[in-house]
Amino acid sequence: MPRLLQVVQLGNPILRREADEVRNANVNTAVIQELIDDMLATCEESGGVGIAAPQVGLSVRIIIVASKPTPAYPRAPTIKPVAMINPKITMKSENLETGWEGCMSIPGLRGNAGRHKTIKLSYLTRFGAPITDEAWGGFLARVAQHEVDHLDGIMFTDRTHPLELISEKEYQKLVASWISVAK
Ligand code: NI
Repeated sequence: MPRLLQVVQLGNPILRREADEVRNANVNTAVIQELIDDMLATCEESGGVGIAAPQVGLSVRIIIVASKPTPAYPRAPTIKPVAMINPKITMKSENLETGWEGCMSIPGLRGNAGRHKTIKLSYLTRFGAPITDEAWGGFLARVAQHEVDHLDGIMFTDRTHPLELISEKEYQKLVASWISVAK
């Protein structure tokens, strides 16, 4: 049974460290496979759209992208959660786009962060199959960039102008206004 893991909060030095690559030989070990199952469960339980291993206290290069519509991101696309081992961004579009983000490690805060509109990602699947230069765009590219940043010790607030940081309460008002406009 997967376990729910504690999410490390801003200020914990692990969030600012560069995480270690997972060695190929370790991909199919119980430690890594259980970690991925626990990260999937933790992300699901907390209503997140992604999570990175350093956020659960392990400084290794593993991320989950699990986009679906949530109260915070009502227009997020639904995908089957993807686990990536040693993800690398191999291409970034020149165009940046700002969009709202939050982070389970910084509850109560939202920020408008600049991200590349489209990217390509190379990574190992959770069972070690290599994926090369897979194209990602829009919100999914945003989530992937946010999670890869966690592996390099970067938080979304580092990519947000201080005047573009707002409280969760104000953010919820914004989301409500988008929904009423859409109706
Ligand atoms: Ni985060």
